[in-house]
Parts: sequence; structure tokens; C-alpha cells
Amino acid sequence: MTQAAFIGIDIGTSSIKVVVVDPAGKLLAVARSPMSVDVKRSGWSEQNPEDWWAETCSAIKQALSEIDGPEVLGVGLSGQMHSLIALDSTHQVVRPAILWNDVRSSAEAAYVRETVGNESLRRLTGNPSLEGFTVTKLLWMRNHEPDLYGRVSHLLLAKDYIRFRMTGELGSEPSDASATLLFDIVRSKWSGEMCELLDIDSNVLPPIIESAQIAGRVTKSAAAQTGLAEGVPVVGGGADNACAAVGVGVVAAGDALFSVGTSGTVVAPTESPVTDYGMRIHSMRHAIPDTWYLMGVVLSAGAALDWWRRSSGSSGFNELVAEAWSIEAGSGGVTFLPYLSGERTPHADANARGVFFGMHAGTERAHMTRAVMEGVSFALRDSMELMTALGVNPVEAVAVGGGASSAVWLQMLSDVVDMPLRTVAPSEGAPLGAAMLAAVAAGEFSDVVAVGNLWLTDLDAVAPDALTRGAYDDAYGRYRALYPALREMFASGGE
Ligand code: XUL
Repeated sequence: MTQAAFIGIDIGTSSIKVVVVDPAGKLLAVARSPMSVDVKRSGWSEQNPEDWWAETCSAIKQALSEIDGPEVLGVGLSGQMHSLIALDSTHQVVRPAILWNDVRSSAEAAYVRETVGNESLRRLTGNPSLEGFTVTKLLWMRNHEPDLYGRVSHLLLAKDYIRFRMTGELGSEPSDASATLLFDIVRSKWSGEMCELLDIDSNVLPPIIESAQIAGRVTKSAAAQTGLAEGVPVVGGGADNACAAVGVGVVAAGDALFSVGTSGTVVAPTESPVTDYGMRIHSMRHAIPDTWYLMGVVLSAGAALDWWRRSSGSSGFNELVAEAWSIEAGSGGVTFLPYLSGERTPHADANARGVFFGMHAGTERAHMTRAVMEGVSFALRDSMELMTALGVNPVEAVAVGGGASSAVWLQMLSDVVDMPLRTVAPSEGAPLGAAMLAAVAAGEFSDVVAVGNLWLTDLDAVAPDALTRGAYDDAYGRYRALYPALREMFASGGE
């Protein structure tokens, strides 16, 4: 008997993840192929798009092998945002992809700020010029690899490259295009003005299709490599943060998503484009028509606790987290800044570093562990406060990622941001959101809200504990005061 199914694929930094779901939302298979990051120099971060493709093929085959005779009705793609994939006129990759967390392009980010000006950047793209955004990576190529730059005929983002390998069609969609700094998020089209100001040939930019629109069909050669049938439709898909929000039902104004994975993000949809005059927070098109979202990015979230686990010689997270919960809110006066890899929101400072502050002779590991978890939660609260200041006031939120699967951390986050939080099942996030977009494109559902209503159920819910409010507010005040006091030292490399 054949089993109708949708496939969602996430091109992540640490793995390629494939989910197979039936039209009623039952998870039929999940497969994952690990990826490594090539760090040729400090601050660089690269992956080979050919490896993405090889691992995608292997993860799809693995997932399909777990199901009896699947009839795949559509494929949706999600992927790491901002990463630069440059192809030549014969569609060959010109160089390894320069990833979202690569900070080599500080000089180019400053050049964009000077050439375009912050107010025009806000008006034209809604976003600040930072090393993370795609255009600064392209300008780095122009400055440092002029021969390779001269060969660039097409630019793509990570999941767009995989769609190209599957279907032979070049294209992107609004949620990922928003993260390039070459896209007009208000009009949902490439910004000719940005291209002119930066002297970039707009012909290198791919056509834009909608996230839940069929972009092409699996070719004969891709069918042979993936095990999918020739002709299966592949949809536009979306940026990983947009698809993660879709995948847990965070699709409309009033909703919000806290994601506590390796990095942390706060995503809040809006029904019109909202931009921050200080541009401390990102504004993106959602993977849903006529919807935008604000996003704050904490570069080291789970990564900070993982670093502390390794450095403190602890045997595991459960032991550490249980220890931390034996300490009162406020960590006995210890404060931790989680800026281990610099920070994006609200400080946008690649030089910022991690800090422990306020230890005394009686401080124990448990205080410091709790301070790490509180520091990450405060960093997420920073993003939520910026959103509130812009009039975006979600009343409750969904939490996902490793941090949300810890009952202790979930309660702490709810207390710190003073908001009820819930978790949902399935919790696959980005690949599930991509599969939902494929289900809408196939005509099975009117929109992603209808898919979410059928596919998602609430799991756990926590409410903020009013008794901890005062202690957390005091600790947050100490946290807020530390970065401005240290900014100059970070800038001079701590010398
Ligand atoms: C968002 C960002 C990251 C990547 C991770 O701006 O840079 O969350 O999308 O894949």
C-alpha cells in the first residue's frame, strides 16, 4: 500500500535534517546527516555546498527507507540564513559557502553603512549592515578574491542551492532574501537601489517565488540520487527561523517563538513591516504572504551552557541543571554575559566576549551554572524588550530547542521574560515548517494555519512565577549594566 507523504528538509549548520509526514501530520520518519564547519582562520566559517547536497541525498534515502512505499506529494526546504553561495555561468560553485556566523567581513559591513547610510539601509532593507548578512560576504569576495568575484553569475542561499540541485531551477523566496541586505522587505522584491549604491549587478539575483509555491520538480538525475520519484514538486520553502516559526504554529501577530538551541532566537510575527530606528533587531518577511517578523539573535545560547559543561568538568547537563536549580533566582549575585562568539542582538558587537562577574569566596559551581542559564535568558529578554518598545507585544510564546526541553530552563525563561510559555509536538521546527509549506502548495490545505491546526498539539505549559520577579529584575539590571561598562575593553581586545 502506498503511503502519501510530505517531506521537509532543513539545511542546518550542524546537520541536514529530513522529516517525512503524512497528510494528517503523523511523523513517519526523521533522518539526520551530520555536517561539519570548516574554520580555515579565526572568525571564518565555511561549508561546501556539494557536501550539503551529498548529505541531503543520503538523509532523504535514509528517511524513505523507513517507510513502506511512500508517495511523496511535495518537498519543502528550509535552511541556514545569510550564507553566500556563488555560482558561475555554468552553474558551478565558485568557492565554498561563506556562512551566517562568519565574521571576516567587518570592513565591508562598515563600507555598506558608510556608502548607504543607516537611515537608507532601514528604509531600503529594514536591517543593519552586519558581518552576518550576505551582501557583506559578497563584497569581501570582491575585495579579496577579485578573480573569483568576476566569475559570479548567480547568488543563492543554502536551501535555494539544494532546490537548484533537485529541480534545475534557480530561485529564492522572500524570507531568505530578506537576510541578504539586498531585498526590499516592504515591497517583497530585490532592491535595485541597494544594488546600484553598492555597484552589484542585479542580474546575479535569482527570481523570487512564494514560500508555498511550487518552484520546480525533481529531475531525473536528482531522482536517481535521492530516491525521490521524478516530477515530485519542490516548493519555495523558507529561512530556517521562518520555517521554525511556521513549524510550531507561530504565524500571526500576537504569537512569539523562543528558540534555545546552539544559538537562541526570538521571533515575533507582525502584520506590517516594523523596523527599529536603532536597527538593533532584524525585520524579515515571514514564509507566509503579507506577514513579517521581528527577530533577535543570541549567538551563544545552548552553546554557552555546553561551553560551561566542558570547562567546569561536569559529567552532563542533567547534573549541572539540577545543581543550578538548588540555588535561588539571581545566582547569589553572579552575572554571566553569554557573548562567547560576539553578539548580534541587541549589541551587534563581534568583539564582545563572555564574562563572569560578581563571584566571592563562597561562590560554587552551581551559582555559576545558574548564572549561565540566567545570562542566556536575559539575552533573550533583551530582544523581547526591544520588540515591546516597538509596540510588538506577544502575550504568550512557544519555546523550542534543547533549552526548552529542560523543565527547569523553561520555567526560568518564563519567569525572566514574564510570559507564559508552551511547548508543542511534534517539536521538529524548521523541517516540519518546510513540510507544511509543501502541504499548502499541494492544495491539501488553505494555509499554514489550517495545517498547524491539524498537525500540532500543545505539550507542556508554564506560567511565570511572580515570587521570583523581583530577584530576576535586580539580576537583569546588573546584567544590563555590564556590557556598556566593558564595551571599550572588548573593542581593544581586552588589552
Ligand atoms: C539568523 C541566523 C541564524 C541562522 C542559523 O539571523 O543567522 O539563526 O539562520 O541557521
